[in-house]
Amino acid sequence: MSAKQIFTTLAAFALFLASSGCNAQSKQENTNAITQSNNNAMNKIVIFFSHAGDNYVVGDNGANYITNIEVGNTKIVADYISEITGADQYEIVTHKYDGMAYTPLINLAQEEANKGELPPYEGAAPDLSKYDTVFIGGPVWWGTYPQVMFTLFKDIDLAGKTVIPFTTHEGSGLANCVSDVKKAFPKATVTEGFSIYGHEVRSGKAKVEKWLKNL
Ligand SMILES: Cc1cc2nc3c(=O)[nH]c(=O)nc-3n(C[C@H](O)[C@H](O)[C@H](O)COP(=O)(O)O)c2cc1C
Repeated sequence: MSAKQIFTTLAAFALFLASSGCNAQSKQENTNAITQSNNNAMNKIVIFFSHAGDNYVVGDNGANYITNIEVGNTKIVADYISEITGADQYEIVTHKYDGMAYTPLINLAQEEANKGELPPYEGAAPDLSKYDTVFIGGPVWWGTYPQVMFTLFKDIDLAGKTVIPFTTHEGSGLANCVSDVKKAFPKATVTEGFSIYGHEVRSGKAKVEKWLKNL
């Protein structure tokens, strides 16, 4: 079964759950400038997108439910990476999905993916000239990264840089993210990716640390 098929099954179940009425509230404050680490000797940066608000969770005990998260799962992983490696950060920001309940959000995201839409991001693309290593992270949305990430990909050049993709997800793992990053940046050296369940990230710092140590 493909990542997309797995998620379609998950999403169908979630649609049912969503009818029980979760309210979406995004409390995450986003900026779009590069956030500099005090400790970036290695010229690394984490470029990421993360959506706070209603999200779908497959719990460890097999229970599926929708929950409202104040800080997005991928942002938590991006923060671990910066804390552990000293990498700077650039967050891809859009307000398009702010406050959306889960069901309309997955429907909109699916439509965007099917049509290959490229929703605009806030602010300017980052100047990446001083970085040689670029982590790229986001949630898996319908089998790949959210479309707004591809909008940014068109505006940056990673030729000659080492690119390290990662995802947070609820069953699809890396899905098509690594191959899509390779397609977007054919002149970069794209490494193996890292994935972690979204519902695991809050207790998953050690897992992220172990991955980073083995790079
Ligand atoms: C619109 C949408 C589509 C999603 N599609 C998938 C998917 O295809 N596969 C999957 O495993 N999880 C999927 N998920 C779950 C997210 O990937 C997962 O919850 C992730 O950790 C969210 O990260 P974030 O909080 O940083 O946005 C989807 C969630 C949303 C909201």
